[in-house]
Amino acid sequence: MANFNTVAGCILASALFAMVVGKVSNAVVHPHKLDKPALAVVDEAPTQTAAAAPVEVSPIGPKLAGANVDAGKAIFMKQCFTCHTTDKGGANKVGPNLWDIVGRKVASHAGFSYSSALQAKGGDWSYEDINRMILKPTAYVKGTKMAFAGLPKEQERADVIAYLRTMADTPKPLP
Ligand code: HEC
Repeated sequence: MANFNTVAGCILASALFAMVVGKVSNAVVHPHKLDKPALAVVDEAPTQTAAAAPVEVSPIGPKLAGANVDAGKAIFMKQCFTCHTTDKGGANKVGPNLWDIVGRKVASHAGFSYSSALQAKGGDWSYEDINRMILKPTAYVKGTKMAFAGLPKEQERADVIAYLRTMADTPKPLP
């Protein structure tokens, strides 16, 4: 009897063990079923890429030599002058004065209170960075206070940048 009890006990224990293992492995396997929600997260990735896509823009450098400085000045007067001056020692308006902006340290003009977003950007204003900034400032520098929709036309951006380049004692070399 003692033997039978031991054997029965063993069988019961094994059965219980098997059940527990079954449950546990179910529990372990279960998270794999969460692959679907995980896929849904992956599905969002293209949307995010699409949102950031406008900043991926072809280089403006090669377009600058053929750009039209006078046309750029006219576009600037219409689109940017409400907020920016470009003359040497010119006033800060809603935006900072842009004298000698090509190669100028980002967010560095005296007396202007920049957003922390632009201050965090760092670096100097290259032609390509200005191109991205004026294409869509809020996409390029998230949190910028430059409330400007942007210039979608590449030719207009090239003309404006070519004009900005001339507003310096020694215009930076064309790329
Ligand atoms: C509605 C006002 C407004 C308009 C229009 C505007 N800007 Fe700005 N711009 C700003 C403000 C404000 C800042 C400072 C942004 C910050 O601190 O985040 C700025 C910053 C900049 C900077 C960076 C300056 C620096 O010292 O780092 C450049 C370059 C610039 N603007 C170019 C332009 C050009 C070119 C245009 C026209 C195509 C334009 N902006 C139109 C308000 C404007």
